[in-house]
Amino acid sequence: MTREICRLGVLTSGGDAPGMNAAIRAVVRACVYQGIKPYGIHEGYKGLINSQIELMNARSVANIVHQGGTFLKSARSQVFRTSDGRQRAFENLRSADLDALVVIGGDGSFAGAAIFEEEFGVPVVGVPSTIDNDIFGTDYTIGYDTALNTVVDAVDKIRDTATSHNRLFFVEVMGRDAGFIALNTGIGCGAEEILIPESDQGIDYLIQSLESSGRAGKTSSIILVAEGGWNGSVFELAKALEKRLPDYETRVTVLGHIQRGGRPSCFDRVLASRLGVAAVKTLCEGESSVMVGVRNNAIELTQFTEAISKHNAIDETLLEVANIVSI
Ligand code: F6P
Repeated sequence: MTREICRLGVLTSGGDAPGMNAAIRAVVRACVYQGIKPYGIHEGYKGLINSQIELMNARSVANIVHQGGTFLKSARSQVFRTSDGRQRAFENLRSADLDALVVIGGDGSFAGAAIFEEEFGVPVVGVPSTIDNDIFGTDYTIGYDTALNTVVDAVDKIRDTATSHNRLFFVEVMGRDAGFIALNTGIGCGAEEILIPESDQGIDYLIQSLESSGRAGKTSSIILVAEGGWNGSVFELAKALEKRLPDYETRVTVLGHIQRGGRPSCFDRVLASRLGVAAVKTLCEGESSVMVGVRNNAIELTQFTEAISKHNAIDETLLEVANIVSI
């Protein structure tokens, strides 16, 4: 089955991620390639509600493949969560004569897309984009690889001070609900311990581990903590640890939003290009209410309902690798 699309809207929604621009570019150019008119919707669903819709062409997306952020801008629209807001969005979409939408974002954005399609019959395809890599149905989300490299760069620098001063550093990285960034950068940076939401280890375990590092001759340590990897603040954790191990001089670095910015890696640019092209193709082939992802290096479709309700599990073998290489 094929679907005739004359005008297609594209928007970015939720937290920005490096590579979103490359994905917009791919969607716009895939449209032009197929004879479809591409429309950029500014500020995500908010822009659909406020009718910030602009006709684009292949040149509108020139010189952005290497830029971080999203030139269409992004938002987390509360109004789109209301049926009134979605009604307004639909009316604007109809006035602009758009036949279909590509939503570049995370699972929250896909949840909005699924309701919108169900209520108004507008075909939508999602492109997974978040540095957290926590979307079911794809091995990689756009922005994750760049964020890993940003964290590795930062922690390598922190290690210089940790070593020079014999200090214990806690480095907090993003990942409210998922430990992919912490686990992988922890291995990549040679962290002594990694605290992630998926495995709750507790302070006693941490103390034992640091004592054994000390016995093994280590004079400094780095502990990677995912935002959701500790029940409470990382600063409180550092204080609690100093009380139990007074010989340790601790410091805390919260990397924060530097992880979301910066030039996308080549991996993210290629991934974004593949997924953007696949999203347009998927809509033209008559599919919708699905997310395009990459599994085992092949494009796969996942129903929004599944992408929203399921979660990617971390690779347990990596926890073992982390333990072995940090002795
Ligand atoms: O992009 C996902 C994420 O990085 C989470 O890990 C983090 O908790 C959140 O975004 C913070 O986003 P914001 O500051 O935009 O609310």
